[in-house]
Amino acid sequence: MVVKTELITWSNKFACGIKLIDDQHKELVELVNEMFNHVTGNDLQEHNYFNRVINDAVSYVKTHFATEEKLMLATKFEGYAEHKKEHDSFVLAVVENINDYKAGKRLTLSTFTRFLKDWVLSHIALVDKKYFEYFKKVATRKEDGRLSISSEDVASAKM
Ligand code: FEO
Repeated sequence: MVVKTELITWSNKFACGIKLIDDQHKELVELVNEMFNHVTGNDLQEHNYFNRVINDAVSYVKTHFATEEKLMLATKFEGYAEHKKEHDSFVLAVVENINDYKAGKRLTLSTFTRFLKDWVLSHIALVDKKYFEYFKKVATRKEDGRLSISSEDVASAKM
């Protein structure tokens, strides 16, 4: 049996209550844990793994950012511009790290994964948290108990 290690353990303190966002954040946590579980110390194995997954990983992160930004804009969240800057600078930092990793510069899969972990944890806990209450306030609770932001919520959102 393969024992999997969690570099990040999902906790309800990361949850905002909007299923769409929480599911995406859980996927990000899963992605970091998955990468961490491919840290073997074998450079060739790690590079092969990295090359297989990194494009999908970056595209997943971009999809998540686009989802949040779309909801912020649609609901007129006033922290949108500041938040988008954080997303953009992270994408730039990731691209730099990827290029360094591919060029064999010092970075290892372990350091790259820890960089992702630190960013994901601090971003969700500090930066994303700024919209949590606002999104909850404008969202509608569906019959199954889930919170969701509908077009009616968007139309009635105020700052
Ligand atoms: Fe969940 Fe702002 O990224």
